[in-house]
Amino acid sequence: MKVNKAVIPAAGMGVRFLPATKAQPKEMIPIIDTPAIQYIVQEALDSGVKDILMITGRGKYAIEDHFDKSPYLEEFLADKGKEDLLALVREIGSLARLHYLRQKEPLGLGHAVLCARQFVGNEPFAVLLGDDIVRSKRPCLQQLMDLYAEMPGTILAVTEVPPEDVSKYGILDAEPLRDGVYRVRDMVEKPRPEEAPSRLAVIGRYVISPRIFPILAATPPGAGGEIQLTDALRVLCREEPVYGLIFKGRRYDVGDKLGYLKATVEFALDRPDLGPEFEAYLKELVGEMG
Ligand code: UTP
Repeated sequence: MKVNKAVIPAAGMGVRFLPATKAQPKEMIPIIDTPAIQYIVQEALDSGVKDILMITGRGKYAIEDHFDKSPYLEEFLADKGKEDLLALVREIGSLARLHYLRQKEPLGLGHAVLCARQFVGNEPFAVLLGDDIVRSKRPCLQQLMDLYAEMPGTILAVTEVPPEDVSKYGILDAEPLRDGVYRVRDMVEKPRPEEAPSRLAVIGRYVISPRIFPILAATPPGAGGEIQLTDALRVLCREEPVYGLIFKGRRYDVGDKLGYLKATVEFALDRPDLGPEFEAYLKELVGEMG
């Protein structure tokens, strides 16, 4: 069965980015001039997903407004003859078939995914988290779907992290099947380095079997009083095949301040309109410091 639907949980409180997230969604914080959430929507579209459900919460209107048509702004730009900007704004408004659902309380990522049950129905579906932005030739989600086409099941995007970083992630206990592909036996959430079964860290891209929904519905709140997706995936991998795929590409953890800074610098260096001047500036700055 093809993966036609994606879920983007975006109802978190964004505590790590306070005070910026006090009155605006963390997903709207831009990497240069483009909100993080736009990269995520674009990746889903580039991977061939047609319908996207955004799980939002209190104070997240800006996300809906961003992807909506903006007649006044369009009229203003048209009057001023700013055709490039007009085209840009129009394109965002027509990007995807976006649907919205509010998670009434932030009861965890697992609960946010469970909110998508009716929208998804009995089909495999994609989940993309806004904290991870992946730059790659083939979109990260598309890479998961490629594997899914060959080996139907639940597919988790993973990356190898250094031992000192395993405590930040869900880590796989897994058996290698072939280069970059693992069969998941179990998962450990944020283990201490000496207890980690591997260095394979789960990042925010998934293709998930609909069997996850009844499991999530029966999953009691775990760490932090939240319903954890990892807890449900641990049950799922005992019932159905769950695979880990080491995706090809460069991933930025933009939910973390340092990761966000790295993404901003590297994206700016890559931009034809900013890169050369920005690079000269950075060299000068580093020269002054050294
Ligand atoms: P995080 O654990 O990173 O939480 O959520 P957060 O609120 O986004 O950020 P910090 O850690 O407080 O700074 C992982 C993903 O799950 C979503 C978030 O929006 C994020 O995409 N989420 C989390 C929900 O949709 N609902 C929740 O109740 C919790």
